[in-house]
Amino acid sequence: MSPPADALRSIEPQVEPEQMSMRVANVIHDDPAVSMPRIDEGANKAALAEFPAAVIVVTCWGNNGAPVGATPSSCGSLSINSPLMFAAFDRGSATLKALSTPGKRFLIHLMSEGQERAALMLASKGPDKFHQVVCRQTRYGPQIANCAQVFPCAVQALVPAGDHVIVTGAVHGLEEDGIRQPLLHHRRELYAVPARA
Ligand SMILES: Cc1cc2nc3c(=O)[nH]c(=O)nc-3n(C[C@H](O)[C@H](O)[C@H](O)COP(=O)(O)O)c2cc1C
Repeated sequence: MSPPADALRSIEPQVEPEQMSMRVANVIHDDPAVSMPRIDEGANKAALAEFPAAVIVVTCWGNNGAPVGATPSSCGSLSINSPLMFAAFDRGSATLKALSTPGKRFLIHLMSEGQERAALMLASKGPDKFHQVVCRQTRYGPQIANCAQVFPCAVQALVPAGDHVIVTGAVHGLEEDGIRQPLLHHRRELYAVPARA
């Protein structure tokens, strides 16, 4: 049974999306008192390797103007009507450092079949990882060619989460046509999603 119209009206947001995000941000806390039981690291990593994860590359311009980027395994959609995405970065990530300014522009790339090498290059550390990765310069960052999808974003919030920081981004557009097959990471291997017959 659907709820009466009055009930629906009472749960509709009474504030603009920007104000909503401020209110939500106010209730976020990183409580060190919450217990974090120790579990076997190897078993935990093996269990997490069972998750099929989209292969994502996040890029932006570093504070010195150089390209920076990483391949976070935790990345996805957060909100649809106020389009938001997220990606989680290790606290030591150079990419996270470059993203640590509200409003900073960046690109989320969903990598596609044939981009395995570029994805692994971006998953390494160091200044030369864009070597041999075909990019074009955009105001959001170096944009990798021929991805399954690319989301230009602006940093909306930084949320501490254990040894990672979650970066949320307001999505500003869509850059690809969705015709390429996305890459997945599963059991420490990269696979393309099979095309439908
Ligand atoms: C499959 C895979 C998944 C990864 N997932 C993450 C992740 O979720 N967060 C992260 O910070 N790094 C992750 N990494 C490692 C980063 O891609 C790597 O640390 C990154 O290149 C950081 O570089 P930076 O210091 O230049 O930002 C992953 C690497 C691989 C191969």
